[in-house]
This record gives sequence, structure tokens and C-alpha cells, in this order.
Amino acid sequence: MPKPSIIAIDGPAASGKSTLGHRLADALGYLFFDTGVMYRAVTYIAIRGGVDVNDEAAVTAIANEVLIDVRPPSKADGRACDVIVGLTDITWETRRLAVDANVSVVSTYKGVRAALASQQRRIGLRGRVVMVGRDIGTVVLPEADLKIYLDASAEQRARRRYDEIIARGEEASFDEILAGVRMRDEIDSARAFSPLKIAEDAIVLDSDSLNADEVFLRVEVLCR
Ligand code: DC
Repeated sequence: MPKPSIIAIDGPAASGKSTLGHRLADALGYLFFDTGVMYRAVTYIAIRGGVDVNDEAAVTAIANEVLIDVRPPSKADGRACDVIVGLTDITWETRRLAVDANVSVVSTYKGVRAALASQQRRIGLRGRVVMVGRDIGTVVLPEADLKIYLDASAEQRARRRYDEIIARGEEASFDEILAGVRMRDEIDSARAFSPLKIAEDAIVLDSDSLNADEVFLRVEVLCR
């Protein structure tokens, strides 16, 4: 059997999708593409420009106009990829708490999803790609050869986000992060357009009961 060429990894925020996707892409020599960074980039640009993130028309205009370039990492500072807009590297800006707090609302907008999903689909159809997101196996690339849905409890995911922020030397409150994770789950799952859900043909893995190595090994076996 040939190796899967298009691999979709979906699941809730901070379930370990990026860690898995990155490692898998490295092992297979594929492109790693974390689609969440595109929603984050649009959110950051709106906030930077003083645009109200609740103004759907204004945020959608940004998504249609701005060219977001996602490239392999140029620095070994913990980033999975570079996020470039114009000539500016906004990689770490897209990880700010203000972006965390507002990105779910931005990703409910139909026009924003349409603009970003068509760019994602075009890249995905080239193949040899590990694409990570919420709707990759269900909407962006339903023809993906392998679909993984990576799940984990809200507490476990909040703990991971908290540790990441502390490791960067920033301050954070665990309780606030947990509340944020729960709020984003609610918005991501309840939205009208391409909500977070498990594709019928996805393989579900739970990263509460499996550590990162075990998750990776399971998926690697599925790729062989
Ligand atoms: O994976 P993440 O936390 O970086 O994603 C940021 C937000 O983008 C998250 O609230 C859900 C949204 N998103 C989405 O709606 N569809 C995707 N394919 C990827 C992310």
C-alpha cells in the first residue's frame, strides 16, 4: 500500500496536534502546515489595526486582502513555522493571549473561513503534506488519505498551554487559560460553518492516555 500523501490532523486547541504533525512531517519529509496560524494572523492584524474583532465585514475584508505566508522555520526559537505578512515576521505575535482570546470568534466568520480554506486546500492538494486544524478532514481536504482526530481533556490542554507560556518567560494564570480553552471549545464546536467535529473516517487518539511518543508511534504505524 502506498504511503498516505495527504494527512489531516484535527482536534481541539492544544491537544498536541502541532507536535504530532511536525514530527510526522519531519519523519516523512512532508510539508507541515498548521492552518490555525492563518486564523491567528488575521486576528492579530485586526487587533493591531484597531479593528473590532466583532465587526465581521471588516475582519472578512482583512482575510480577503492580506497575503499570509507560512514558511518552514527560519529560527530555532521553538517556532513550528514562520508566519510572515508583507515583510514582517509575526510568528510570536500570533501566539499572544489577546489573539488566543479572540481567534475563535474570528474563525466563526463564513467569509474568513472561505478565504483561508481555499488557500489551504490549494496547498494541501499538492500532496506530501501534514495539515493540522479543526476542519481539515471534514471540509478542507475530505479526500485526505489519512485522518487523525487528536483529543484530550480541557485540563490537560490548559496545562500544556500554561507550560508553553511559562517556558517563554511570560506570566500566565492556569485558571484563566483553562477558562479560555473551555470557551474556545464551545465556540469551535458550536459554530455554524465547519465546526470542530470528528470525520466519519477519522482515527481518534486520546493524548490524555497516550504520551507524545506513543501518539507518534501509533500514527507512524498507520502511515506504513
Ligand atoms: O490550533 P490553534 O489554537 O492555533 O487555532 C486557532 C483558532 O483557529 C482556533 O480557535 C480554531 C481556529 N481554527 C479553525 O477554525 N480551523 C482550522 N482549520 C484551524 C484553526
